[in-house]
Amino acid sequence: MTTVYLNGEFIPKERATISVEDRGFIFGDGIYEVVRVIDGRIFEWGAHAARLARGLSGIRIPLDASSIEALKGVCERLVSDNGLADGEATVYMQVSRGAAPRTHHFPPPGTRPTVYASASRFVVPRDQREAGVRAITFPDFRWLRCDLKTVNLLGAVLARQAATEAGAYEAVLLRDGIVTEGAATNVFAVVDGVLRTHPLGNLVLPGITRQVLVELMKENGIALVEKPVTQSELLRATEVFLCGTTTDVNPVIALDGKPVGSGTPGPVTRRVQALLDSRLYAAVGAGR
Ligand SMILES: Cc1ncc(COP(=O)(O)O)c(C=O)c1O
Repeated sequence: MTTVYLNGEFIPKERATISVEDRGFIFGDGIYEVVRVIDGRIFEWGAHAARLARGLSGIRIPLDASSIEALKGVCERLVSDNGLADGEATVYMQVSRGAAPRTHHFPPPGTRPTVYASASRFVVPRDQREAGVRAITFPDFRWLRCDLKTVNLLGAVLARQAATEAGAYEAVLLRDGIVTEGAATNVFAVVDGVLRTHPLGNLVLPGITRQVLVELMKENGIALVEKPVTQSELLRATEVFLCGTTTDVNPVIALDGKPVGSGTPGPVTRRVQALLDSRLYAAVGAGR
């Protein structure tokens, strides 16, 4: 039996129901987070909690700081109650603006946000990380607040579906001739020997994995330039990799059916991959 958390209660998943008037359902009016849990330990909780708080305030959902901090205990309990305290898991959390008769403007003050969380087993696809993945390019027609992790994910859904139909793992998004990010990942590329990624701002999600990689690169003397990669630069990139909470560092070996560099994961990607692994598994022994 799977236990989930809904509005203050830990209940069997089958009993978890929300109103058909929930604004998450009607408008995609909510914010979510996904955290990685290794042997019961949440990776980078503080950074995820800060992004959740920023997202909620960005769309003006009133959830106080103590309720956000309490979600850490919710995650930990879901992990242990569902028998996921050993090995790898993820926890999904979502806060919507709550249930109220449908109006585009906000519901009456006092409408309680709907808070939901669930934990799942996570199996790291190690062969894929080793071999790398294929990606396609796809137009970034998402809205202009991609820095907010809203549950309204249509741009990402359509991009990932196009990738899936093309036999690829990810869609690398292009806006005005520039690589922004992936449908559900941040994107790095080595162009003319320089490692680059799109700077933070309204056009990309401030990925927690991206943030950790930037720190690791600084600590380890790997030069990074936060400057957008153009479509023509992408074509001559010698390495491209994706990063995310469930993606880790994933080499892209082919883009739109053409090999990236030598068509195998490159040295910068491998180095960054190893650095992230050692940080992820620091408390439980590197290289698991
Ligand atoms: C659009 C987008 N960019 C980047 C990421 C990576 O973010 P994180 O490293 O926090 O998982 C995600 C994760 O879902 C995403 O949806």
